[in-house]
Amino acid sequence: MAPSILAADFARLGEQIQSLKAAGCQLLHVDVMDGHFVPNITIGVPVVRSLRQATDLGLDCHLMIAEPDRYVEAFAEAGADMISVHQEAAPHLDRTLAAIRAAGAQAGVALNPATPVETLSEILPQVDFVLVMSVNPGFSGQKFLPGALGKLRRLAEWRAAHRAHFQLEVDGGIGVENIAGVVRAGADIIVAGTSIFHTPSPRESFEKLRRAASLATAEKV
Ligand code: DX5
Ligand code: ZN
Repeated sequence: MAPSILAADFARLGEQIQSLKAAGCQLLHVDVMDGHFVPNITIGVPVVRSLRQATDLGLDCHLMIAEPDRYVEAFAEAGADMISVHQEAAPHLDRTLAAIRAAGAQAGVALNPATPVETLSEILPQVDFVLVMSVNPGFSGQKFLPGALGKLRRLAEWRAAHRAHFQLEVDGGIGVENIAGVVRAGADIIVAGTSIFHTPSPRESFEKLRRAASLATAEKV
């Protein structure tokens, strides 16, 4: 589970992160938007740097920005552990992923709902993780698009067939009602914003989601 801090109360972010950590959270999802690749502006490098100083949780930075090559090193240096760039925004993925790795972070590629997984066939051997968007990027609180399930399944099949080791992450519109489905489809990392932070107790909601995810994982084995 990777809570997306985009849905958090930014004025109380430190406190909310501490309580998720106490519940066993290990990874935070950080949504970076530039008002150009997506129609919204969120946070940038200085916030990642502050988060790095405030917590030892893993920081998973999802760059929804144009020309990500210009910024990946700065995010890694600020303390990102995982960095994903969008396939649609990065025409030289081979180079971009190598730059992320050289800067010391895990390198991921994110796919918009309209982008087929087949566009990644040449680059999959070089990725540490693939982020399948289950909403159109730009905002938290949108409805889950079920097309993501088939994409997760196809990527999981490719991974098994090629004995690859990348992780599968899914992001957008996930809550207790659909988390089992994404786990069964092959997701290893599940991002959730609204269903954690827009509830009376983010900590309890996190625990509930994690329980539902572990039940679905146990069924799979
Ligand atoms: C959407 C972001 C997501 C979003 C998830 O552009 O990439 O990470 O914040 O929020 P929910 O879980 O509310 O859809
Ligand atoms: Zn995201």
